[in-house]
Amino acid sequence: LEEQQLRGLLSGKKVVVTAGPTREFIDPVRFISNPSSGKMGFAMAEAARTMGGEVTVIHGPVHIPKPGGVDTIEIVSTDELFEQVKAHADADVIIMAAAVADFTPESPAEQKIKKNDDASSLKLSRTPDILSWLGHHKREGQTLIGFAMETENMVEYAQKKRESKKADWIAANSIADHNSGFGTDTNTVTLLGENVRQDFSGTKKDVARQLLDRIFNTG
Ligand code: CTP
Ligand code: CA
Repeated sequence: LEEQQLRGLLSGKKVVVTAGPTREFIDPVRFISNPSSGKMGFAMAEAARTMGGEVTVIHGPVHIPKPGGVDTIEIVSTDELFEQVKAHADADVIIMAAAVADFTPESPAEQKIKKNDDASSLKLSRTPDILSWLGHHKREGQTLIGFAMETENMVEYAQKKRESKKADWIAANSIADHNSGFGTDTNTVTLLGENVRQDFSGTKKDVARQLLDRIFNTG
């Protein structure tokens, strides 16, 4: 896609993108997380910026350069991400590309757990579902985009997520696909909308542009 064609599609629109992993601490030196690199979220932010959006990226701990021309807010835990998302929930477009931890320790230890301590069990509770909260508090005219990572039954599970979370769009990727998933520079995603099922493949930057073009040009 030519930059020229993309420019302006989101001009004047406030766009919030979440990216990277969240961390849930078990004790001061250990946490539950996932291998999200932040690449897909940052690519979505860059693409939204190219299209003229005023972009804020809320992201967890990542090791890649921040996208240019956008505001960035760093968070660590899912609760912190949720607070920041709620503070920016008036945006025209919200893209939940963050790989949010699903579980958090019920009572994190204040001191480091020592190896001779009893560690035979760890009680976990669910984190808040941020995309679902957004979907159930959606304001008129807002576009809500989520991602889904599946290891089986990708389209069925992702479409169910789109419906139950009340998102407008879900970009699903299968970790079974060798060029997709955590940390890769390329991705293959299936964009699911109300009556849309369309595949996109390429570098994460290309896929980000294609997704936004499909959603805001033709969608
Ligand atoms: N998500 C979220 N809050 C959570 C978990 C997920 O906002 N606590 C968002 C993700 O950012 C993504 C979408 O929901 O946009 C789908 O995430 P995914 O992990 O694929 O789905 P889950 O609903 O967490 O279900 P599961 O992991 O059990 O498949
Ligand atoms: Ca999950």
